[in-house]
Amino acid sequence: MKKSRIVVIGSGAVGATTAYTLMLRNRADELVLIDSNEKKAAGDALDMNHGIPFLGTTKLWAGTYADCQEADIIIITAGAAQREGEPRTELLKRNTVIMDNIMNEVMKHNSSGIILLASNPVDVMSYYAWRKSGLPVSRVIGSGTLLDSARFRYLIGSHLSIDPRSVHAHIVGEHGDSELPVWSLANVAGTKLELSDEDKDHIFTNTRDAAYEIISAKGATYYAIALALDRICTAILRDEGAVLNVSTLLEDYHGISDVYLGVPCIVDRGGVREVLKLDLSDSEVELLNRSAAKLKALNASITI
Ligand code: NAD
Ligand code: LAC
Repeated sequence: MKKSRIVVIGSGAVGATTAYTLMLRNRADELVLIDSNEKKAAGDALDMNHGIPFLGTTKLWAGTYADCQEADIIIITAGAAQREGEPRTELLKRNTVIMDNIMNEVMKHNSSGIILLASNPVDVMSYYAWRKSGLPVSRVIGSGTLLDSARFRYLIGSHLSIDPRSVHAHIVGEHGDSELPVWSLANVAGTKLELSDEDKDHIFTNTRDAAYEIISAKGATYYAIALALDRICTAILRDEGAVLNVSTLLEDYHGISDVYLGVPCIVDRGGVREVLKLDLSDSEVELLNRSAAKLKALNASITI
C-alpha cells in the first residue's frame, strides 16, 4: 500500500511546530522537512526522531525537493515572518521571491499532490502559487481564515462560557487587517448570540489583532497555526468533506472574482471541492468586497 507523505517546506517556528503536531497526531506515514537552512531542518528532524519511541511509527527526515515526488500534501511555511507591529502585507516582496524559488522546485518534482500554504500574506501567496503552478484551483489551498475563525470561536466561547467547538462563527476575507466577522450568521445550536455591540467589537478586535499581540509578546505565532494546518491535512487525507475557512479562488462570489480569499469551503481528498456561498448581510458583502479589492491590488503589484 502506498505510504502517506507530507512534506513541510520551511522548518522555522511554524514549519517545525507543524511537523511536530503532525507527528504527535500520527497524521502521515512519512514526514519530510525541507529548509534552505539545511542544518536547521536536520537538527529538527533529529530532535523529533528522538521522540518517536514515545509515539509510534512515523518516519521523519530532513530531505530535498526530490522527496516532494511522493508527497500527498506539500505544506509551505517558508519565508520571512512579521516583526513587531508589522502588517502581513509588508512581507509581500520578500516572500514572493522565496515562493517563486520554492514553486519552481516543487513543480519539477510533484504535479499530483496538494499544495497548502501558510506563508504570509497567505491569500496573495496562494494566488501566486496557483497561477505559477498551473495546477487546478482545488489543489492549491491557503490556510486562509481558519486560524482567525478559531480565535474568534475561542473568544466567543470564553465570553459565553461555551465550548468553542459548539460555536459556529466565521471570519472571512483576507487573513489580515481587512478580514471581517460574519456576525449575522454566528450561532450556538441555531440560536443567535446574546452579545452587545460593545462585546462584539471587543471580540472582533481581539481576533483580528491577535497575531500582533502574540508577536509583540514572544516574536512569532506557531502553535495554533500548526493545529489549523493539521486540521486541513486531516480533512484531505481522510477525505472528510469538512467545512473549513480556507483561502481559495473566488468566482462570482457576492460580486467578487479572480482573487484568493478565506471563506468556508468543503475540503476532501481532492482539496477544495466546493466554495460555500454564505448568506451575508449587505454590510458584510460590502466589507468582503473591500477586502477583495485590497488583495487584488496586492496581486496586481507582483508579476508572475
Ligand atoms: P521563521 O523565520 O521562524 O521560519 C521561516 C523558515 O523559512 C526559516 O527556517 C528559513 O530558513 C526558511 N526559508 C526561508 N527561505 C526559504 C527558501 N527559499 N526555501 C526553504 N526555506 C526557506 O518564520 P515563521 O514564524 O515560521 O513564519 C513563517 C511564515 O508563516 C511567515 O510568512 C509567517 O508570517 C507565516 N505565518 C502564517 C500564519 C497563517 O495563519 N497563515 C501563521 C503564522 C505564521
Ligand atoms: C497569525 C500569523 C502571523 O498568527 O499570520 O495570524
